Amino acid sequence: MPTIKERDREVIWHPYTPMKAWPEAIAIVKGEGVYLIDEDGNRYIDAISSWWVNLHGHSHPYIAEKVSEQLSVLEHCIFAGFTHEPAVRLAERLLEILPKGMRKIFYSDNGSTAVEVAIKMSLQYWNNKGVKKKKLVALQNAYHGDTFGAMAVSGRSVFTEAFSDYLFDVSFIPFAGKGMEEASVTALESILQKDDIAAFIVEPLVQGSAGMQMYSPEVLEQYFVLCRKYDVHIIADEVMTGFGRTGKLFACDHIQTSPDIVCLSKGLTGGSMPLGITACTQDIFDAFYDDDRTKMLYHGHSFTANPTICAAALASLDLLLMDSCSESRQRIAKAHMAFAESIKANPVIADIRQRGTIIAIELKTDTPSYHHSLRDVMYRFFLEKKILMRPLGNIIYLFPPYCISNDELEYIYGCIKEFLKQLNP
Ligand SMILES: Cc1ncc(COP(=O)(O)O)c(C=O)c1O
Repeated sequence: MPTIKERDREVIWHPYTPMKAWPEAIAIVKGEGVYLIDEDGNRYIDAISSWWVNLHGHSHPYIAEKVSEQLSVLEHCIFAGFTHEPAVRLAERLLEILPKGMRKIFYSDNGSTAVEVAIKMSLQYWNNKGVKKKKLVALQNAYHGDTFGAMAVSGRSVFTEAFSDYLFDVSFIPFAGKGMEEASVTALESILQKDDIAAFIVEPLVQGSAGMQMYSPEVLEQYFVLCRKYDVHIIADEVMTGFGRTGKLFACDHIQTSPDIVCLSKGLTGGSMPLGITACTQDIFDAFYDDDRTKMLYHGHSFTANPTICAAALASLDLLLMDSCSESRQRIAKAHMAFAESIKANPVIADIRQRGTIIAIELKTDTPSYHHSLRDVMYRFFLEKKILMRPLGNIIYLFPPYCISNDELEYIYGCIKEFLKQLNP
């Protein structure tokens, strides 16, 4: 009997995978808490929450129970002209916890589509009002997804190169890394002053794909205040930062000014199923509320607000809002801080940054890049230790499910120290 791994090779094309260099995928047959278990019985610690989606551990029995209940009541129905309890309840509950000012929830399927909807909401808002604001501003090295609109507002990189002729024009401001805060804020203001900008889109506090690059709440606040001053929509892409990752429920909760639009996905269902939402203010919604049907939002997906997936999201919210989950997030953040302190003097480290449950260790290299050769060396090293990590070039990071134990964290920290020692014996 061929193994799953062998059968996979015949028929599957994997995402973000150089298929020639990495022809073999590890076949997972079971998920259990923080562990992914393969067909040979190996147990891998999922240190990156399976691409930043998992909150409470794999195959969580409570989420499974709620999904199973929903499946036998109403698995799916059209969401135009029809509605259902799970979608309404989820919207009500999200609006209670989202940054203030959010009034309506638009459902889609993933992070990229949540961003597409946000862009379309903003552009059509100005169009519906007859105001000529057509351009978007984003941060250099941003990542907002892989559909065309989301790629357009993402930094130009190897990810987007082949499509550059087809991406609409976006103004990019420098990232507000250490020493660049003022330049970044000034660049935003000068663009807002001279161009007709519809919206500013940003990953608040942490740029994930760029290598867990972090900047301060003060800078985020300054960006938002400027957008308010120049009447420009603020789109907060909380696809990665949402649901407690940065120490508060949402990264925007670290500041006073609220965005106009918030994009969520990933942790929304606790990582169990795909769902995206785009939340917006009453003002945005009202610009589409018209007798003139050309002013409605022309967007929707077949599986919009799928009830089974909404049930998973509701179950995940139950778990997320428990005191024990908040305590776990604090415990992880504290452990990360102590670990960072213990290795910060290591000469192979260029930078260590941490916010909430996210920690990133950037290693010194001559040519930092997504395809740096160190990346594969590190990936393999940690897999041998039965830890799933996907370093971003020369940057190792941890983004664990909140159910990870102190012992599991200590094991991972120990393996990282062992790797650092190999680089500088
Ligand atoms: C900030 C951000 N926005 C959008 C996306 C796209 O989400 P998805 O992969 O679900 O399309 C990602 C994915 O990593 C992300 O990190």
